[in-house]
Amino acid sequence: MKTKIFKDEAEDICEASKIIAAGGLVAFPTETVYGLGANALDEDAVSRIYAAKGRPSDNPMIVHISAIGDVRLIANLSKLDDVQIENLRKVSDAFWPGPITVILPKSETVPKVTTGGLDTVAVRIPSHIVARMLIENSGCPIAAPSANLSGKPSPTTAAHTLDDMEGRIEGLIWGKDCQVGIESTVVDMTSDVPVILRPGEITQADLERVLKSKVDIDPSLVKDHKANSDIDPKDALSTDDNNVSSGPRSPGMKYKHYAPDAEMTIYLGDIDKGEEEARFAAKALEKKGKSVEILKFTDSKRAAHELFKYLREADEKGVDVILAIADLKDELGFSVMNRMFKSAGYNIKKV
Ligand code: TXA
Ligand code: MG
Repeated sequence: MKTKIFKDEAEDICEASKIIAAGGLVAFPTETVYGLGANALDEDAVSRIYAAKGRPSDNPMIVHISAIGDVRLIANLSKLDDVQIENLRKVSDAFWPGPITVILPKSETVPKVTTGGLDTVAVRIPSHIVARMLIENSGCPIAAPSANLSGKPSPTTAAHTLDDMEGRIEGLIWGKDCQVGIESTVVDMTSDVPVILRPGEITQADLERVLKSKVDIDPSLVKDHKANSDIDPKDALSTDDNNVSSGPRSPGMKYKHYAPDAEMTIYLGDIDKGEEEARFAAKALEKKGKSVEILKFTDSKRAAHELFKYLREADEKGVDVILAIADLKDELGFSVMNRMFKSAGYNIKKV
């Protein structure tokens, strides 16, 4: 199959939306990462997404809509209580369109293949104008995971999307580089205290400010972070997340993810000391004939924007080893470190 490239202009977006309406696959830019879209209500089309990505079929899709009124098409809001409805209203008023996905009870119209067999559905209204035009013109909600091959970093540029998807999908809308650079925050709104299942640009503090009430983070994410950052794992395990043993509640978080071909180590702790140790290690590795790159992040926003792009560029250049120095302590940093730990396969050196 030849992948047709569309421009990010009205006429081309219209053409691309016809492919979606006819059951085909089109990759498109969003403000977070590029998505791989198909009609969310068409079982065969959604099955083709799993095949194109090589994605396990129990890993559910995010369903993208362009208008708030369409939530009722795909979610059964009658299953939410008054507190949950009020929370949903506040979150959607404050953050949609934007980089946040909410988990809601699913309606009958959404096929199980779209939700990986779950009774809940992930819903997002992207702020990216191209994404919204594509959804509107297609006339259907669009199921769209990140447009990478399963296990690879999410693509944040059109070229990186094409690298993974050429020949596997009917179309790609060639937009600009994605602004945020990491995927949307996923928050489960089916309990009175919402739970963040995947951290993103919109943080726990942002949500608590808008809801004026508590928001939890999936304990397995906190545990993961504590165990790998500067908190002694013993302390992390002795907190109340001890009784949580079932792993992440967002199915996608359990899979190998974001991994570059290069071997990656994170130097965590003091930035200067990390840099010194990384330079020392790089010299030794270079003597052994390895191609080494040192990556340093001190600003979370920049790190979010550049991480996935960097990882893919390093692979293109044939880098063998990435030595990353980063200890991003603010809330957005929590989201970025979540991706970095996975990229490095938890290969972490405390400095
Ligand atoms: O920023 C984004 O969210 C991008 C763009 C394209 O919108 N999409 C994206 O999709 O990152 P994907 O499929 O790569 O990640 C979706 C995440 C996975 O971790 C998945 O397990 C989780 O959302 N998810 C989807 N439906 C869920 C559900 N019903 N319950 C719990 N987690 C769910
Ligand atoms: Mg993904």
